Amino acid sequence: MGAETQTIKNLFLIDDEEAMRVATRQWLELSGWVVVDFAAAGEAVAAVAPDFDGVIISDVKMSGMDGLALLDDVRRIDREIPVILITGHGDVPMAVDALKRGAYDFLEKPFAPERLIEVVDRALDKRRLVLQNRDLKRLLDQKSGLDARLIGRSSPMSAIKDEILNLAGTRASVLISGETGTGKEVVAKCLHDFGGWKEGPFVAVNCAAIPENMVESELFGHEAGAFTGAVGRRIGHLEHANGGTLFLDEIGSMPLEMQSKLLRALENREITRLGASMPVPVDFRLVSAANEDLNKAVSEGRFREDLFYRINTVELTVAPLRERREDIPLLFQAFASQAAETYDREFVQPDATATALLLAQDWPGNVRQLKNIAERYVLSSAEPADRMSRILNGHPGMREEGGDGTSLADQVRHFERHLIKDALKRYGGNVKAVMEELDIPRRTLNEKMVKYGIARLD
Ligand SMILES: Nc1ncnc2c1ncn2[C@@H]1O[C@H](COP(=O)(O)OP(=O)(O)OP(=O)(O)O)[C@@H](O)[C@H]1O
Ligand SMILES: [Mg+2]
Repeated sequence: MGAETQTIKNLFLIDDEEAMRVATRQWLELSGWVVVDFAAAGEAVAAVAPDFDGVIISDVKMSGMDGLALLDDVRRIDREIPVILITGHGDVPMAVDALKRGAYDFLEKPFAPERLIEVVDRALDKRRLVLQNRDLKRLLDQKSGLDARLIGRSSPMSAIKDEILNLAGTRASVLISGETGTGKEVVAKCLHDFGGWKEGPFVAVNCAAIPENMVESELFGHEAGAFTGAVGRRIGHLEHANGGTLFLDEIGSMPLEMQSKLLRALENREITRLGASMPVPVDFRLVSAANEDLNKAVSEGRFREDLFYRINTVELTVAPLRERREDIPLLFQAFASQAAETYDREFVQPDATATALLLAQDWPGNVRQLKNIAERYVLSSAEPADRMSRILNGHPGMREEGGDGTSLADQVRHFERHLIKDALKRYGGNVKAVMEELDIPRRTLNEKMVKYGIARLD
């Protein structure tokens, strides 16, 4: 939310009579407000923009454009900017007309300075509230826009969405880490689309997909004849990203030599095309993604430490799906309805058993895998009752169906066993940590471990 709307204090003052203008200006400035004055209404109108963080005070009777015409023009720019008009003594019909046309208030000449101050004070308060409400509404609109793009209400997802809105307006370099298929690219695109540079390009480069000998010319471009085969000039990705976002996907696979060149380009904000003598300035927001641990790559000497610090001013980690299972039903629902529409199929909601099955999987391929399953579910010709178990059983990395039946009780047992095993594994067999995470007493945990045949260090 714009902090500036907390204390707005800008005033535009319009009066073609200099003595009056100077005197009024002084009164206003004594109250600590920032006054810009104009001798002609047209100039003031030209300086007003929507969301103007202030109030306008204008004389009505002026040569050229008068105060009422100014009022109309200002209201066309932003209907809610308070305009205070100063009318001639006893000109009641004029004052009434002004109020009808949307003036905030009027002052009759001659007026006491205190009266002016009081009216302006109220008008500024009103304007501040209007701007605050607009900020709030924009934030809510953005939030719901983001909810549609990045589905999930789990706490890790909500935290990421808050971070995106928080970072979107900045140019901070963001490193997005997370396992394959968790949604890193979606996050990168949202950082761009919900940010201040969304009008600019979003240039995505998959560093792992470029042959090593091509990386430099792909990223930095080249001049004609820079090397054998360089027929024409080529503009590189860094230059293409100017004024927008450069998304370097799988940045961990960038060759070391190229890492130094990238670092230099980021630090100097300029690049030199291969075979060129002069650098060209570049200005973009850098978002990188890695599905490997870059810290490890640094310690193994595969990734430059200085580049690592340069690209991760902020690090966003997208949690694997198995650590935010509560997002699964919502994601499945979204993907399945999407697929149903694409393939013109009917989408039969999965029943409780099928949903329990979905929840019980480990999802090594994360959201991408879930999306794939949802599509297959929609396209499957199997009976709705055993559709889910069939699809999951045939899918790589998926668990075999639990129990010997598909009853809800069996599925629930299967899920419970899985949750406990998973937690034990994550905490390296630390029973106390598991008790806390699952919020169950030690005795219950022990009983369940015995029941499901789980060892502490399984
Ligand atoms: N929260 C989400 N809401 C909606 N769709 C999502 C979400 N997360 C991921 N997806 C979808 O899942 C698929 C995989 O996401 P994405 O390509 O962003 O993953 P990734 O982390 O970049 O994977 P990789 O490391 O393999 O490149 C895409 O089709 C994407 O649209
Ligand atoms: Mg990706």
